[in-house]
Amino acid sequence: MKLLVTGGAGFIGSNFVRYWLRDHPSDRIVNIDKLTYAGNRQNLEGVSPGHELVCEDIAEANLEEQMEGVEAVFHFAAESHVDRSIDSADVFVRTNVLGTQRLLEAARRRRIARFVLISTDEVYGALGDSGDFTEDAPFRPNSPYAATKAAADLLARSYFKTYQFPVIVTRACNNYGPYQHPEKMIPLMTTNALNGLPLPVYGEGAQVREWIHVEDHCRALEAVLRRGRPGEVYNLGSGYRSTNLELVQMILRLLDKPASLIRFVADRPGHDFRYALDSAKAHRELGWEPQIALEAGLEQTLRWYRDNHEWVRSARGDSYQQYYSQMYENREGYRQNL
Ligand code: NAD
Ligand code: TYD
Repeated sequence: MKLLVTGGAGFIGSNFVRYWLRDHPSDRIVNIDKLTYAGNRQNLEGVSPGHELVCEDIAEANLEEQMEGVEAVFHFAAESHVDRSIDSADVFVRTNVLGTQRLLEAARRRRIARFVLISTDEVYGALGDSGDFTEDAPFRPNSPYAATKAAADLLARSYFKTYQFPVIVTRACNNYGPYQHPEKMIPLMTTNALNGLPLPVYGEGAQVREWIHVEDHCRALEAVLRRGRPGEVYNLGSGYRSTNLELVQMILRLLDKPASLIRFVADRPGHDFRYALDSAKAHRELGWEPQIALEAGLEQTLRWYRDNHEWVRSARGDSYQQYYSQMYENREGYRQNL
C-alpha cells in the first residue's frame, strides 16, 4: 500500500511513520513536511527505504502531484502549540485551515480511498469538574490553535457531506512519548528536571489533561483506516487523567529529582480547565483499546529523553533557547527561589 502522510517529521507523524513501516515494511510512505521549527529530520533517522520525505508547505505545494498512486492520506501537519497560537495566530490559520482545505481538495480530485484527519479534543473546549466529551459535544474552541483545528475538522465534515469524500476524523487527547518537541509539557518538564532547571507549572497546576502514549494513538489510527466508517468521528482517549501538578510530581519522582524545582508561574490566558474523552465509540467500532498505562509509558518516555542526548541537545538549540527565555524567564513566579 502507498500512504501519504503530512507532518511526518513532527512528533506524532514521525512515530506513525516508524510504527507503520515497522509493521508493514513493504509499504511506501510519501511524507510532506515543511520542516518548521517543530519538524526534525532526526525524528526519521534510520527509517526504512519505503519512506520519502518531501519538504514542502501544504498551503502551497502541488499536492495532487504527490498523490500519484496513494490509497490513503493521514493528515498530521499543523501548527500545534497553544502557547505559540496565543502569541501569533496567522500561521495557524494558514497551515491548519488553508493547508487542510488544499489537502482535502487535492485528495478529492485524486479520488483517494481514505482520508484520516488528525483533529484534537481541544475543539470541544473545556469541561468543568465532571463529565466527558462524546463525539457529538458542541464545538467551543478557546485558543486560536483549537479554533483553527475546529475549522479543519468542520471542513472535513463538509467534504463528506457535500462530495461524499471518504474522510474520517479522529480527536485524540494529549499525546506523550519519544520525539516530542521539548517546548511541550512533558519533554519540557523532563529535560528541565534532568538539567536541574525550574519546572514552570502554569497557575496552580490544577488543570486536568488526559494522556495517551503515542504508540497507542498510532495503533488507533491503523484501526481507523481498517475499520473506521467514512464520515464518522472517533474520540481517541486513554482514560488516564491527571492534573498538571500531579503529572509533574510523577515526573520528578520517576527521575528522583526534588519537588523544589517546581515554580508556579503566571497562567496561560484562556487556559482550558479540564479535558476528558468518552472513547467508547472507538472501542466498540474499531476494536481498539489503549495498552500502555500512564506510569509505565511515562517511565519509558523519560528514559528515552535521558538516553537520547544528541537529539535533546539539538532540539534545545539556539531557537529553542530564544523561545524559552521569551516565554518563561520574565514570567511571574519563574525566578522565585532562584
Ligand atoms: P508537531 O508540531 O510535533 O508536528 C507538526 C509537523 O507538521 C512538523 O513536522 C511541522 O514541520 C509540520 N508542518 C507544520 N506546518 C506545515 C505546513 N504548512 N506544511 C507541511 N508541514 C507542516 O505536532 P504533533 O504534536 O505531532 O501533532 C500532530 C497532529 O496531531 C496535529 O494535527 C495536532 O493538532 C494533532 N494532535 C496533537 C496532539 C498532541 O498531544 N500532540 C493531540 C491531539 C491531536
Ligand atoms: P501542552 O503540552 O502545551 O498541551 P495543551 O495545552 O495542548 O494541552 O500543555 C499541557 C498542559 O500543561 C496544559 O494544561 C498547559 C500545561 N503547561 C504548563 O503548566 N507549563 C508549561 O510549561 C507547559 C508547556 C504546559
